[in-house]
Amino acid sequence: MSDWVNVATERELADGQRRVVDVDDVMIAVFNYGGEYYAIEDVCTHDGGELASGELEGDEIICPRHGARFCIRNGKALTAPAYEDVHCFPVRVDNGTVQVCDDRFD
Ligand code: FES
Repeated sequence: MSDWVNVATERELADGQRRVVDVDDVMIAVFNYGGEYYAIEDVCTHDGGELASGELEGDEIICPRHGARFCIRNGKALTAPAYEDVHCFPVRVDNGTVQVCDDRFD
């Protein structure tokens, strides 16, 4: 498995917060939603918008460019104009630090 990368401490990534980290040139958005951590690629599958700067409604992130919605729990594309899901990444907490890893190339 690829290396785990530190995102933030649990305190820094409180409920409702988000952080974007660069993992080997892949931008990953990590969310604390209801005390659970979720991570998706921070690139809209419609036309490359940065999802993490969009509004979060429940567990749906709204792309700030053209309004497509994605579920942050599983990366599913929920509304047009995006039809392809975004990738989800594993997240863990290690000794109080939230970590993510890019598992696609293992
Ligand atoms: S770039 Fe995200 S909806 Fe178009």
